[in-house]
Amino acid sequence: MSAQKPRVLAIIGQGYVGLPLAMAAVGAGWTVIGVDSFDAKVAQINGGSSPVEDISDAQLQVAIAKGVYKATADYSAVSQASVITICVPTPLDEKKEPDLTLLRSAATSISPYVSNETLVVSESTSYPGTLRDIIIPIVNSLKPKDSLTVYFASAPERVNPGDPVWNQKNTPRLVGAIDKESQRRALIFYESICDAAVGVSSPEVAEAAKLLENTFRLVNIALVNEFTQLCSASGINVHEVIDAASSKPYGFMPFRPGVGVGGHCIPIDPLYLTWWARQNGAKATFVESADSINNAMPKYVADRALSMVDSSIKNPKILILGVAYKPGVGDVRETPVSELRDYLKAQGADVAWHDPLVPIWEGSIPVKLDWNCDVAILATNQPGMNLTQLIVKGIQILDCTNSISGRVGVSSL
Ligand SMILES: NC(=O)c1ccc[n+]([C@@H]2O[C@H](COP(=O)([O-])OP(=O)(O)OC[C@H]3O[C@@H](n4cnc5c(N)ncnc54)[C@H](O)[C@@H]3O)[C@@H](O)[C@H]2O)c1
Repeated sequence: MSAQKPRVLAIIGQGYVGLPLAMAAVGAGWTVIGVDSFDAKVAQINGGSSPVEDISDAQLQVAIAKGVYKATADYSAVSQASVITICVPTPLDEKKEPDLTLLRSAATSISPYVSNETLVVSESTSYPGTLRDIIIPIVNSLKPKDSLTVYFASAPERVNPGDPVWNQKNTPRLVGAIDKESQRRALIFYESICDAAVGVSSPEVAEAAKLLENTFRLVNIALVNEFTQLCSASGINVHEVIDAASSKPYGFMPFRPGVGVGGHCIPIDPLYLTWWARQNGAKATFVESADSINNAMPKYVADRALSMVDSSIKNPKILILGVAYKPGVGDVRETPVSELRDYLKAQGADVAWHDPLVPIWEGSIPVKLDWNCDVAILATNQPGMNLTQLIVKGIQILDCTNSISGRVGVSSL
């Protein structure tokens, strides 16, 4: 007998993707079960404290109080759901190849509790074929005998944490399903949450489109990072060049240089693409080259900062401002600032950091902005950093964010 109820959604993984999806679904009238394998996170969420910046404690508390949202580590709760979405991390392993351990584990854990006629959707980013070749065989082999029909689709998440404009509701959602009925159900589901759902012909098209979107960003960031180094060597301000090129109304899109790329997506997803290419006997040369250029940026930034220090100072004191991978979030996953710090230290620098949104980073705690330094590097322009106090003190700053260019003592990347 099926235990599933209409308009009950189970979301596996309550992180940057899963929790905002949960609140968007609650807003659209769904009752949501948020499953997460990390007990401490479940306790935090059920205590009304949001672990992600895009969801306020108040929003979470209202949903919990109304009884339309609950987090749990107990997978059996998914038996009540008519739709299950998988939103777990898809990182790289030590060989920089796709690590689908958590995705396989999520698929394995839901399988005994999938009811008949449930729609299972993967939102996690992965290479084409992940839904068809990995998730579906796991679920079909482990599902209960009376769950005769299970529907499957891929709908890669496009959320941009910290973005005040684009969110789950107003960002069109790609939907590619395994068959017509799965597609019909998946489109109905996403149309109930998002303003627009865009159907594509297969899960593989949706999976590949997600990789293309993020690889597009990776290669354009790499292009501008390389271009910055060329301009800087010739004494040209790259930001003025980008602004000038942006006056062209078609065929150009501005990207800005920086310390590198970070977060769960841009440094990782393109490597799913390069790996997938290799599996198919091909080589994604252009993407691999872009990855190398971005990976070399922390060293370039460190060398630029060290060149600003009086050469008589053997162990310069360097303050890094902003360590999260982008402004407005406390997310330090894959932040290129780790490489920057390590390289500076290897050159003998005494390095400290400040970030109002990051209380602890790789075992170290932040210093205050008045920490006495020879040079400061503005790596991520976090809200809440009073940089004027450094400028007034006459501290030299290497601005990697183009936020305070033109101020006295400030050099642009
Ligand atoms: N963060 C982003 O900006 C973003 C944007 C688009 C897509 N994505 C993709 O979405 C997926 C999820 O990313 P995220 O940033 O939300 O990750 P996250 O680390 O913020 O959250 C994932 C959550 O899943 C939980 N989890 C891990 N394995 C689990 C399992 N087997 N069962 C239940 N819970 C499990 C973790 O405890 C964690 O709370 C990834 O594939 C990522 O590439 C992320």
